[in-house]
Amino acid sequence: QAANKCVRVEREGRVVILTIDRPEALNALNLQVLSELTDAMVPLDSDPGVGCFVLTGSAKAFAAGADIAEMRDRTYPDAFLTNMLAGWEAIAQLRTPKIAAVSGYALGGGCELAMMCDTIYCGQSARFGQPEIKLGVIPGMGGSQRLTRLVGKSKAMDMILTGRMMDADEAKEAGLVARIYPDDELLGAAKEAAAQIASYSKTTALVAREAVDRALETSLSEGLLFERRIFQSLFGTDDQKEGMSAFIEKRKADFKR
Ligand code: CAA
Repeated sequence: QAANKCVRVEREGRVVILTIDRPEALNALNLQVLSELTDAMVPLDSDPGVGCFVLTGSAKAFAAGADIAEMRDRTYPDAFLTNMLAGWEAIAQLRTPKIAAVSGYALGGGCELAMMCDTIYCGQSARFGQPEIKLGVIPGMGGSQRLTRLVGKSKAMDMILTGRMMDADEAKEAGLVARIYPDDELLGAAKEAAAQIASYSKTTALVAREAVDRALETSLSEGLLFERRIFQSLFGTDDQKEGMSAFIEKRKADFKR
């Protein structure tokens, strides 16, 4: 079993698509999935030839949560000493833009993994939830923090305290997902958006997402200062000269990134 890969990695131009593939467990997130994802993504993060990641699962499940069988017998001292689940934060910390393309279940750690991405696109079949309370635990990969920031306190409390699922329309209305597609169009649309993001200056895209992320971390005045300083710093890049020159010369920009 351990020899079988749980994540497929494909490269299309400047886009890398990572597909979680554990159909026997609805893509439940075990340590092997984490290590395969980080082994693939961390080196590519600093590759100037990679401009965007797309993270996806199967038609039935993006991921139905952390692997319950793997977790059941763990103890508090062991969970504390190994800093259980902390390793997943490495995915959130990647600097390259990443899109979650969600079909089917995105529950517990699956919903949390999607929320670690910069944006979520979903198919009509998507179901989001934080059902940990049904198992006697709470979200452990960021759900109580990221869901609250994305959808607000009242809805986050509703989801986390009842353990119910949201469908695609409710998730879009709540601001959890940016776009909904028919299921069979989802991956193509996510790859197209990823290719568009990857066609720009990677430096610019990296700092753009850092600036947006600061909005969730800091005060308005500090965030505005951070944005203005980064904006100013981009005038030190060749890609700013190229982007603005291309506009004025009515041609397509050729970013060196
Ligand atoms: N961990 C381990 N195995 C899982 C799993 C999970 N999170 N979710 C599903 N599976 C397994 C099932 O055990 C089952 O395996 P067997 O065929 O060997 O019995 C297989 O996947 C198919 O699942 P079901 O038969 O249950 O499929 P279903 O269509 O009847 O139900 C479902 C689908 C509603 C998603 C249901 O599987 C379910 O409720 N899964 C658990 C969801 C959950 O509680 N997620 C949170 C996990 S805790 C967490 O994530 C903590 C955190 O914050 C990090």
